[in-house]
This record gives sequence, structure tokens and C-alpha cells, in this order.
Amino acid sequence: MVLPSDQDRLYFPATERNRGPIGDALAEILPEHGAVLEIASGSGEHAITFQQRFPGILWQASDSDPEHCKSINAWIEHECLSDQMPQALCLDVLDSPWPLPKQIRVQLKVVVAINLIHISPWTCCKSLIEKASENLPIGGRLILYGPFRRNGSHTSLSNETFDQSLRDRNLLWGVRDLEAVEKLCFDLEFKNMHVQELPANNLIISASKAVRSDR
Ligand SMILES: C[S@@+](CC[C@H](N)C(=O)[O-])C[C@H]1O[C@@H](n2cnc3c(N)ncnc32)[C@H](O)[C@@H]1O
Repeated sequence: MVLPSDQDRLYFPATERNRGPIGDALAEILPEHGAVLEIASGSGEHAITFQQRFPGILWQASDSDPEHCKSINAWIEHECLSDQMPQALCLDVLDSPWPLPKQIRVQLKVVVAINLIHISPWTCCKSLIEKASENLPIGGRLILYGPFRRNGSHTSLSNETFDQSLRDRNLLWGVRDLEAVEKLCFDLEFKNMHVQELPANNLIISASKAVRSDR
């Protein structure tokens, strides 16, 4: 086994600014116990912060990028959380099925993705919601955080500029329409959509998994 080194720890500056507001919003949504699967955890800074803030939760971080998985594991080690939280899962949101360990599958209550759906193709957003619906139990929650367009328009000039910069980097990326994401959620058996505005023109949206006749 190769132990993660301190040099593996990546720093994503935005996580320092948004971990507080996202954590406060999560405090209103997360259950006391059960497993949370975080898709696209990036550096792992959110994962260790939220594992510390919500000790009753088993926080399973994941990412498709092996360097990011290394960073997540290095942060876990650095924060002495190895006894409390599992090692990062190398999981691509497009994987079918998601390779969840049994320990997570049986306790899964929440799937969360922070800043993923605008920095990946729309197929990733579709797969995220589809697989979340497949893996969550009834009443389980899907939580998404990031910038969104509302009613066909950007909510700020900075989001519009950011959207253009994303599209310049990759034609398949871009700030998503809240209504399109909501429709996808609804079509895939999520209900009770809740939308909250967070600083810097971001939203956190959450919805719970319903049975078909429950919506
Ligand atoms: C902008 S970063 C966000 C990271 C972290 N959630 C945060 O807010 O700091 C986007 C992350 O999505 C991951 N990602 C991109 N495509 C993915 C995919 N298909 N499946 C899983 N993760 C993916 C990238 O590796 C990266 O870590």
C-alpha cells in the first residue's frame, strides 16, 4: 500500500470561501446518520470539512481524477480522519453501475455534487441524477451546488462571464438552466425540490427520492 504524502494535498481556493455557507445549508438538509456519497470531490477539502462538521455521517468522497483521489486521501490522513471516513472512491459519474462498496450502498441517504454539472458535459448531469435515483432509498436526498440560470437568464453578470469562459474551455460545459435540471429530477422520481440562494450567485438545490405515485 502506498501512503498518501503531504505533497499530494491540493488546494482549491474557492472551497475556503464556500465551505461555510455550503456547510450551513447542509446542516438544514442532512440527516443525523447514514452515508453521504460526494461525487466529484476535487481536492477533498469539502469532504474533510463536512466529515468534521457532521460526525454522525459517514462521508464517502469520490472523483474520476486519480490525482484528486490522491489529494482526498492525503487530506483524510492529514486531518487524522482515517478511522472515521473511508478512502476516496475512484468513481466517474458516467460509470454504470456506480462501484459503491457495500458499506456505503446499505447506508446511503444522500448524494451530493458541488460544482460538477457546469464543468462537465450535460450527459454527466443526466447520469448523476439517474444514478442517484437508482442508488438512493425512498426519502434519500440529492443535493447540487453551483451557479444556475433561472427562467432562461443568468442571475448575474459574473455568472454570464463565467459561463462564457467555461464554454470557451469546452463547448459541452456551461452554466445549466435550473428548470432543465428540475425537470430531469422530476422525471427521475425526485420531489420536494428546495432551492436556496447562497453567496456569490450560487444555488444549493435539493430534492428527495419519491416512489412513482408519490410525486
Ligand atoms: C470544479 S471541480 C469541483 C471540485 C469540488 N467539488 C469543489 O467544489 O471544489 C470539478 C470536479 O469534477 C470532477 N469531475 C469531472 N468530470 C467528472 C466525472 N465524469 N465524474 C466524476 N467527477 C468528475 C473533476 O475531476 C473535478 O474534481
